[in-house]
Amino acid sequence: AGMVLAQDLPALAVKDKYKVGFAQTESNNPWRIAQTKSFQDTAATCGWDLVLTDAGGSAAKQVADVDSMIAQGIDVLFLPPREESPLIPAVMRAKAAGIPTFLVDRSVDPNVAQAGRDYVSFLGSDFIDQGGRAADWLIKNFKGDKGVIVELEGTTGSSPANDRKKGFDDAVAADARFSIVASRSGDFARDEGRKVMETLLQAHADVNVVYAHNDEMAIGAIQALEAAGRKPGEDVTVVSIDGTRDALQAIIDGKMGVTVESSPFFGPLACDTMKKYAAGEKIEPWVKVEDRIFTKENAAEHIGEAY
Ligand code: AHR
Repeated sequence: AGMVLAQDLPALAVKDKYKVGFAQTESNNPWRIAQTKSFQDTAATCGWDLVLTDAGGSAAKQVADVDSMIAQGIDVLFLPPREESPLIPAVMRAKAAGIPTFLVDRSVDPNVAQAGRDYVSFLGSDFIDQGGRAADWLIKNFKGDKGVIVELEGTTGSSPANDRKKGFDDAVAADARFSIVASRSGDFARDEGRKVMETLLQAHADVNVVYAHNDEMAIGAIQALEAAGRKPGEDVTVVSIDGTRDALQAIIDGKMGVTVESSPFFGPLACDTMKKYAAGEKIEPWVKVEDRIFTKENAAEHIGEAY
């Protein structure tokens, strides 16, 4: 007991061709579509025979998708676990089947499953920091003396929703001007964000800040605000995370203040990390992705590369 040996992880042979599993969570937003495309584009250059599934927004389906990949004999698994707990049994079964697993973009509950022991590594952003940076921008740029915040949370139980909430809430708690009057899940989806915002506007007509855990919900919230006669960018400050094309356009149009980048382009990093692992190099438990920040200062410059 005690020491956990890295050798406990399944090894990966050096070969020209790999059967690679990528078990996507859902495909209802441009971020997810860009991430899937990044894996598909990388397949050609990295020698992957790609097995791709789409869980359609169901953690149970994602578990079944991983099980079916295990049965098909994939060499390596890339997994963005839709929620932190339900995917853990699938991660454990992949390990038991001798399949090295890399979590991409989302993580699992670290009290139960650990990088370097149960899976090789987590490749992804620091979501707490993203939330903190959204809050920092708000604190610096909010002009009024009373900020009434509505927070639109991502998928309940997902690592980005948990961590983006923590990072933001902790940072704004330090500034007495702000209060978060409602915090509700919009499941990272545009239409859900719009509906939740519509409902919250009834109870909180005085809202003047919206923090959305992703751009799709921010766009949905902007639609709801405009339908209610509000002027996002003028009487409501909207802050968000991702860096989609529509969000950069909303910044250019003056409707959104900031979006903290969360890059979906994981294919090249996945290829690189997998090859290093096969070559016997040590892989850090967290391969961190560095994120930029988009505001009216640079949105026009970056919209051409957005998705
Ligand atoms: O896990 C990353 C988040 O998932 C992105 O911010 C969001 O748009 C996606 O659905």
